Amino acid sequence: MGTNNSKALHHPDMKKNPVIEVKNVTKSFKSVQAVKGVDFKIFKGQSVALLGPNGAGKTTLMEMIEGIQKPDKGEIFISGKKWKGNESTLHREIGLSLQETHFLERLTVFETLKLFASFYELGQQRVDEIIRIIGLQEKIRSYVVNLSGGQRQRLALGIALLNDPKILLLDEPTTGLDPNARREIWSILMDLKKHSQTSLVLTTHYMEEAEQLCERIIIIDKGRILKQGTLEQLLEEDNGDKIIEFALDESNRSIDGVSVQAGFQIQWDANRDKGVIVLNQIERQLPEFLNFLNQNNLRLRHLECRRKTLDDLFTTMTGRRLHE
Ligand SMILES: Nc1ncnc2c1ncn2[C@@H]1O[C@H](COP(=O)(O)OP(=O)(O)OP(=O)(O)O)[C@@H](O)[C@H]1O
Ligand SMILES: [Mg+2]
Repeated sequence: MGTNNSKALHHPDMKKNPVIEVKNVTKSFKSVQAVKGVDFKIFKGQSVALLGPNGAGKTTLMEMIEGIQKPDKGEIFISGKKWKGNESTLHREIGLSLQETHFLERLTVFETLKLFASFYELGQQRVDEIIRIIGLQEKIRSYVVNLSGGQRQRLALGIALLNDPKILLLDEPTTGLDPNARREIWSILMDLKKHSQTSLVLTTHYMEEAEQLCERIIIIDKGRILKQGTLEQLLEEDNGDKIIEFALDESNRSIDGVSVQAGFQIQWDANRDKGVIVLNQIERQLPEFLNFLNQNNLRLRHLECRRKTLDDLFTTMTGRRLHE
C-alpha cells in the first residue's frame, strides 16, 4: 500500500524526455495542505487520469501544471521548460479546460470559437473543423447561455483543442453530465487519441472515465499519490481480482475480519450493511464461503460476484469510496 507500482516506471517511452514532469511538488492554502510532495512524469502520446475524490488536490495540481498557480516547493517542467520566462511558448503547446468554464453568455457558439481562435491567430477554417469535431454544427448560431451541460462541455473541449495542442489538460471534463453526454465527450477524446500524438491529462472522480480513456491512472487522495500504473497493474494484487459482495438476512458486523478456511477474509462494510470478499480462485473459494455461511447459520439475502474495480482498490487503501 502507498507505493508506486514499479512496472509503471518501465514505460517504453522512458528514455525519451517527458512532456510533463512534476517533481516533489507541494502547495498549501493557509492551513490546508492541498498537494503534499507529488512526483510523476508523462510522456508523449500518453493519456493519464488523475483519479481521486473531492478535495484530493486534483485541480490544484492541474492548475500548477497549467501555470495558473505556483508550487510552494518542487518543480514542474513542460516540454523540459519551466513556466517562468517561457509563458508564450508553453501557452502555444497547451490546450486546457478548467473545472468550471464561464463563457460570455451573449456570444453564440460560433462567435465564442472565433474569439478564441483570434487569440491564436487562427482563421475560420479551424473554427469550422472544431465545430465538426465537437459535433455542434446544429448549434453554431445558439447563444452559449442556451446550451445544455453536455454541449457546454463540448464547447469547452473545442476551445481547448483549437490550437492543436501537444498537451491537453482537462479538469473534470464530464462531471455532472448524464451518461449519454459523458459518452459523447469520451468519443471525441478517443477519436483524438486515435488520430494524434497529443498527451492527455484529465482529472476525474469516475473510475469508468479513467479506465476508458487513459492507459495510465494516478490515484490521488489528500494531496498524495496512493498508487499509479495501468489498470491491470493497479488491480493485479496478490489477494485476487474478483469481488463478492453479499448481504445477510440480519446485519452481522461480528463476521468482520473473519478468515475463512481457504485464506480469504471477510470485510464488513457497516455503512452499506454488506460483506465484501476479494477472491483469487473463485471456483474453489465460493463453495467454501457458502459452506461457511451454512455452518454458521447465516442466511444470504443477496450475493453478487464481479470484477474488482478501481473503486474497490481505493476503498481497500483508504476505507472510503471515490464517491462519498
Ligand atoms: N484557493 C484556495 N484557498 C483555500 N483552500 C483551497 C483553495 N483551493 C483549494 N483549496 C483546498 O485544497 C484542497 C484540494 O482542493 P482541490 O480543488 O485541488 O481538490 P480537487 O481534487 O480538485 O477536488 P474536486 O474533485 O472537488 O474538484 C481542498 O481541501 C480545498 O478546500
Ligand atoms: Mg477539482
